[in-house]
Amino acid sequence: MRHDPTLGRLPASVAAVAGDFSLSVIEGLSRAQKALPCRFFYDARGSCLFEEITQLPEYYPTRTEIGILNASAAEIANGFSSGDVLVEFGSGSSRKTEILLDRIADRIVYVPIDVSEAALAEAVLRLEEIYPALEIRPLVADFSTLTKLPHEFSGSRRTGFFPGSTIGNLAPNDAAALLAKFRKVLGERGRLIIGVDLKKDPRVLVRAYNDAAGVTAAFNLNLLVRINRELEGTFDLTTFHHKAIYNPRSGRIEMHLVSDRAQDVMVCGRHFHFVDGESIHTENSYKYTIPEFRALAERAGWKSSRVLTDASEQFSVHELI
Ligand code: SAH
Ligand code: AVI
Repeated sequence: MRHDPTLGRLPASVAAVAGDFSLSVIEGLSRAQKALPCRFFYDARGSCLFEEITQLPEYYPTRTEIGILNASAAEIANGFSSGDVLVEFGSGSSRKTEILLDRIADRIVYVPIDVSEAALAEAVLRLEEIYPALEIRPLVADFSTLTKLPHEFSGSRRTGFFPGSTIGNLAPNDAAALLAKFRKVLGERGRLIIGVDLKKDPRVLVRAYNDAAGVTAAFNLNLLVRINRELEGTFDLTTFHHKAIYNPRSGRIEMHLVSDRAQDVMVCGRHFHFVDGESIHTENSYKYTIPEFRALAERAGWKSSRVLTDASEQFSVHELI
């Protein structure tokens, strides 16, 4: 099925995402600990930088999860019947999805959902080339505010796919609430295949978010570039630097943008003051043990039916029913 690559069928969703940006930035920069929601990393450049991150030697999650999915692809594919719907949350480039689509593209409908219109449009164009018979129904939307899928999917069995450990970017209570929401969206016979990064040597974690080539730093700083461009921001990029640390108490990587001096910045016509060394908290990336994540999923009403990992237990893929 062919689609308009600009995804012009969904202007309301796109406008909602854009309006949300200014409100969230003003609110976040007004807090005692300044903070910005990480979903705003993903403008066109942010999505490209994320793809670069996935290729970095230090960033083990992507290649490890791909290895896990490849090893069990046939078995996972056997769980799909003709007419099923595959709903991917935060689909980005949909590269990992190809591992499944190679086996099921002839019998399912694919619904990729992402806030990044650019990433979604590029992925749809590529997938249409590779799988001409695949029905693709992209949605530009914030998955955390999604309450239901288009009506036409209500009679079909829906499988959610949520790879990449994007669930780790939410605090555990929010993650449980999101998983409960996905359970509703996916319906009674629904299931969820979800990638979750595992707790490990903090040095490995810290390296993954402080790569030698500086791509993660550029990804983090791009948030200020986006604010300057879209919200009349006056951030001087030469006066902020990237910081990523592991917080062992919370079991999370924290990313910050640190001001190298006392300064005032304007955004949307408002002043925000930074003292020397003050940071904007831009992302959390929670890591779990397998039992911790299983308990979180159960709190959200899911039952863990199986867990796949790599040989060194760096990353996990859970099937929830
Ligand atoms: N699933 C891909 C991409 C992970 S990066 C992978 O495993 O490699 C996270 C993706 O989620 C990005 O494409 C980003 O645009 C999207 N995303 C982040 N927060 C989102 C939200 N609230 N709603 C929809 N998409 C979101
Ligand atoms: C998408 N998400 C799971 C990535 C992560 O590892 O938390 C985003 C990212 N941030 C820095 N590097 C990658």
